[in-house]
Amino acid sequence: QANEKESMYLVSEFAAKYFQNVLHNTDEGRSIGYSYFKERGFTGETIKKWGLGYSPEEWDAFSKEGISKAYKLEYLEKTGLTIVREDGRMADRFRGRVMFPIQSMSGRVLGFGGRILGNDKKVAKYLNSPESDIYHKSKVLYGIFHAKQAIAKKDNCYLVEGYTDVIQLHQAGIENVVASSGTALTPDQIRLISRLTKNITVLFDGDAAGLRASIRGIDLILEEGMNVKVCSFPDGDDPDSFAKKTPHDELVKYLEESPKDFIQFKASLLMDEAKADPVKKAGLIRDMVGSIGKIPDRIQREVYVQEVSRIMDISEQILVSELAQVSSKEV
Ligand code: CTP
Ligand code: MN
Ligand code: MN
Ligand code: MN
Ligand code: MN
Repeated sequence: QANEKESMYLVSEFAAKYFQNVLHNTDEGRSIGYSYFKERGFTGETIKKWGLGYSPEEWDAFSKEGISKAYKLEYLEKTGLTIVREDGRMADRFRGRVMFPIQSMSGRVLGFGGRILGNDKKVAKYLNSPESDIYHKSKVLYGIFHAKQAIAKKDNCYLVEGYTDVIQLHQAGIENVVASSGTALTPDQIRLISRLTKNITVLFDGDAAGLRASIRGIDLILEEGMNVKVCSFPDGDDPDSFAKKTPHDELVKYLEESPKDFIQFKASLLMDEAKADPVKKAGLIRDMVGSIGKIPDRIQREVYVQEVSRIMDISEQILVSELAQVSSKEV
């Protein structure tokens, strides 16, 4: 089994090299792929650092090259890079896409995300490697290999949604950032971060989906006994687009100063509505208490209870008894 996985790692490594070679050294790769990354504002250095590549617009160019280099079809297929069709012919999974290799904590290539070049809404924007013996997407964080040192050093991890958010922030010198990439955040991903720091700042897209994902993420992070802050972006912006249009010093300042703790974040979301409406206010308080109930540490819970009491102008006593009820329901 160990050999089998090793063979899959080797195939993935070969694929990463292949896609990079196509990007840098073929006309199609240069004129379509490389220029796409350049248009997105990535430097040559960034393109190299992240091992970005391009899969040519052909049926089986990659698979043929792999076979000719003596990689076994079995492993090309098990990594999902090659699809064997019913008539027995090979087809490349990734065709005509810019390629983002996904690396493990130790830097091995586990799989790929491939993006279409335009913004055609009829095609899935990103196609990702399927689950395999080496790629478990719920256990991987995009960027962790390049981010781990900075996360430990800064004692904080910025968590974003997408590949390009990670890359753009790294290029801007903010290197303690990783992405959940295409899955809802999972406990395994949070535990990966908790080996490096107990502090997560959620930087999700400034749209309805990003907001929902942030709210879900908060409780998961609290349940793992970690601290969570949330930094919002203007509607329509994600960390990539925001970083690109914001002067560097301003960006750094924004990421340092605008994150709110989760109570303030929830309050700011709903406070305007809730103020005028006692029923909504009660609902908001219950929601906050629900999140506090996820925190394992009693002293931290008490600190947040005090905060809610202050912000929402409600007695601590009643919050504590509500919290006791929430907790007893959980068990
Ligand atoms: N994603 C995916 N499949 C899709 C859409 C998104 O796997 N069809 C994942 C990708 O990892 C993507 C992340 O979810 O990076 C966030 O999605 P989105 O915000 O839509 O994409 P961006 O990362 O902003 O991509 P881009 O800027 O290239 O449009
Ligand atoms: Mn497995
Ligand atoms: Mn989005
Ligand atoms: Mn986005
Ligand atoms: Mn984006």
